[in-house]
Amino acid sequence: MGIKEIIGCYSVLFLLIIVDADGVWSISKEEDMELEKQLKILNKPAVKTIRTDSDQIFDCVDIHKQPSLDHPLLKNHKVRTTFDDFSETMKDRPLKGKGLSGFGVRCPIGTVPIRRVEKEDLIRAKAFSKLHMKTYAKNSHPLADAPIHLSAKLAANDKSVYGVAGILNVYQPTLLSPDQVSGSIIYLSTGFGEPFKSVISVGWAVMPPVYRDNFTHLFAYWTADNGKTSGCYDILCPGFVIQSPEFALGRKFPGSTYRGSQVDFNVRIFKDTKSGDWYLWVNGVSVGYWPKEIFNGVFEFAKEVNWGGEIFSPRQPCPPMGSGHFDGERIGGACYISGMQYQIAPAGKFVDIDPALKAVVDSPQCYKASMPSNEGTGYTFLFGGPGGQC
Ligand SMILES: *[C@@H]1O[C@H](CO)[C@@H](O)[C@H](O)[C@H]1NC(C)=O
Repeated sequence: MGIKEIIGCYSVLFLLIIVDADGVWSISKEEDMELEKQLKILNKPAVKTIRTDSDQIFDCVDIHKQPSLDHPLLKNHKVRTTFDDFSETMKDRPLKGKGLSGFGVRCPIGTVPIRRVEKEDLIRAKAFSKLHMKTYAKNSHPLADAPIHLSAKLAANDKSVYGVAGILNVYQPTLLSPDQVSGSIIYLSTGFGEPFKSVISVGWAVMPPVYRDNFTHLFAYWTADNGKTSGCYDILCPGFVIQSPEFALGRKFPGSTYRGSQVDFNVRIFKDTKSGDWYLWVNGVSVGYWPKEIFNGVFEFAKEVNWGGEIFSPRQPCPPMGSGHFDGERIGGACYISGMQYQIAPAGKFVDIDPALKAVVDSPQCYKASMPSNEGTGYTFLFGGPGGQC
């Protein structure tokens, strides 16, 4: 995409245009000032700094001084550090993920890991979410140059959902250009139209617009207005309150090997009905929560839930999804989400999904998906494909 097109589509007077090896990202002057402020918030004094063996830097920050507490609606928020309330909900939670031992960050107790970011990370993430938003505009008014956003997912849109779970098989798809994204996610939203469409999504993705590399990262995204003004990936903006000293958002993850060793991790997102906050557990560890305040108190339950693969590309051809192979290759060849469950009563038990849920595939010549199959450990959904001209 050229500079002219970007100026045209955002129609703002002052643009800061960042041109680097990976392309062009732009934000307005006002946004630039906002990001300066955000960067200050993110750079809290560290008790300890950890450089991982995959060369990422995490600052261990006092749990009670973490950046999210700078959110204007969290001024008097006291970080919740006990999890006793969930013992009932979590009782039958399955196992840990495969192949991810040693992927913790291990900050000292009482501190939480914050991925070190530079201003350019914030600029790119901001510009990317605006570009991403454009795909949604496409649905109402088709634009010839709108970016492409395709998925192969299993969707539940007719229930009130208080929790979702799944075990996500991880791959590292090879993108065709650094402005593409490919990943696997669990997504939930209020399903309202704007301005109060709240969304939480968690998964893995190769996402150079946000992480500036071609590796797979664990990510968590939220917004309270469908991406218009609020929300971000991980903790690039205040919002998600981290509890775990070792499970870091934005962490690089190894991918599975096609027909070889498999890597997966277990995600559980659920509403604590006592506090009203939405919790994120990964591999049985409480990573943290989205306080109800950040959703303006209107994220009561989810009405739109889905599990599966997603790609984003500003143009054709499109990148691979999942392992890059179709669902017919089954576990080991195709990417999966297994152990799919949801919670359809407040504070109720997690139950297996309804196997009659519908798979939605946007571009069947590029990506495919199977109906959920019972592999003995709950329901498994297989999806993915090579991409191309979609
Ligand atoms: C990531 O992959 C793309 C496409 O193959 C390449 O153009 C880009 O230089 C790579 N980026 C990094 C940081 O290695």
